[in-house]
Amino acid sequence: MRIAVTSASGKLGASIIKHLIKKIGNQNIVGIARTPEKANHLGVEIRQGDYNNRHDFDKALQGIDAVLLVSGMDDPQKRIQQHRNVIAAAEQNGVKKIVYTSIVGNDSETAFSPVVKSNRQTEKDVQEYGMQWVIGRNGIYIEPDLEYIENYVKEGGIRNCAGDGKCAYTSREELGYAYAQMLLDEGNNGQIYNLVGEAISQAELAALINQVYHTNLTYEAVSVEVYEKERKEALGDFLGTIIAGIYEGINIGANDVHSDFAKAAGRAHKTPLEMVQEIKAQE
Ligand SMILES: NC(=O)c1ccc[n+]([C@@H]2O[C@H](COP(=O)([O-])OP(=O)(O)OC[C@H]3O[C@@H](n4cnc5c(N)ncnc54)[C@H](OP(=O)(O)O)[C@@H]3O)[C@@H](O)[C@H]2O)c1
Repeated sequence: MRIAVTSASGKLGASIIKHLIKKIGNQNIVGIARTPEKANHLGVEIRQGDYNNRHDFDKALQGIDAVLLVSGMDDPQKRIQQHRNVIAAAEQNGVKKIVYTSIVGNDSETAFSPVVKSNRQTEKDVQEYGMQWVIGRNGIYIEPDLEYIENYVKEGGIRNCAGDGKCAYTSREELGYAYAQMLLDEGNNGQIYNLVGEAISQAELAALINQVYHTNLTYEAVSVEVYEKERKEALGDFLGTIIAGIYEGINIGANDVHSDFAKAAGRAHKTPLEMVQEIKAQE
């Protein structure tokens, strides 16, 4: 069985490939990347694949039995067609199974909802073709918060509009483990899984960071309006709106979802403390 993973030059694609290599060796894995030279270090065959270019995938998916489609980063409306380029090429090339990395979230009530909605459309598209399919809805990665610790220290703490809302975080490492299993285990076919760990509040996240990194962060809740204005000033309109929308989603409970990780991966998700400790140990 030959398995391809798209966006192999990105951190999630690389993690999935690393876990696949552990399970089946590197011979039958193909990484597909828009920028192939950024994926050469992975130790598997790399083929060219830009989501905007259907022709790339007609070539890249030749001889492939199962493909993992990592969701794109573009404007939400553009993503739908980009993902269709991969799905249609897979079907035409005789690929038997497609696994898609979707996202947890609310598809109508926040500034992040357009992104969630476009992921839901691709979920439907994946199911409409004749291939076997599995869909993972990824929780929010915990890594960006840990990469931001120096700034949190400078800013005096974590400040956002999540309030007391809880968020079931995950990590690229945990997702890589789960997706490798979902690709290989036929028992997962036809399932939509929430790939998340235990849900925690922002105050609990601050306490965890303090415990592991010996910081002294506190959490301050601000309104959606204030936070969106601040983020737009710091990050520009597009990214600022999206980040505020993500925390608004946490506030209204959109990320406080049950976890299907154990069903998908065959083992429990790591606890938030274990994830933070593991990431710190790798720094
Ligand atoms: N759950 C979360 O918290 C969260 C956070 C951020 C993003 N995401 C989603 O998860 C996905 C993977 O995350 P990541 O950690 O791997 O992000 P990452 O490390 O930033 O990598 C993004 C990947 O997307 C690729 N890409 C962008 N546009 C493409 C196109 N037109 N055709 C083919 N590949 C394209 C990039 O290729 P190049 O190397 O050529 O640029 C890169 O490999 C993201 O794309 C996004 O949809 C989730």
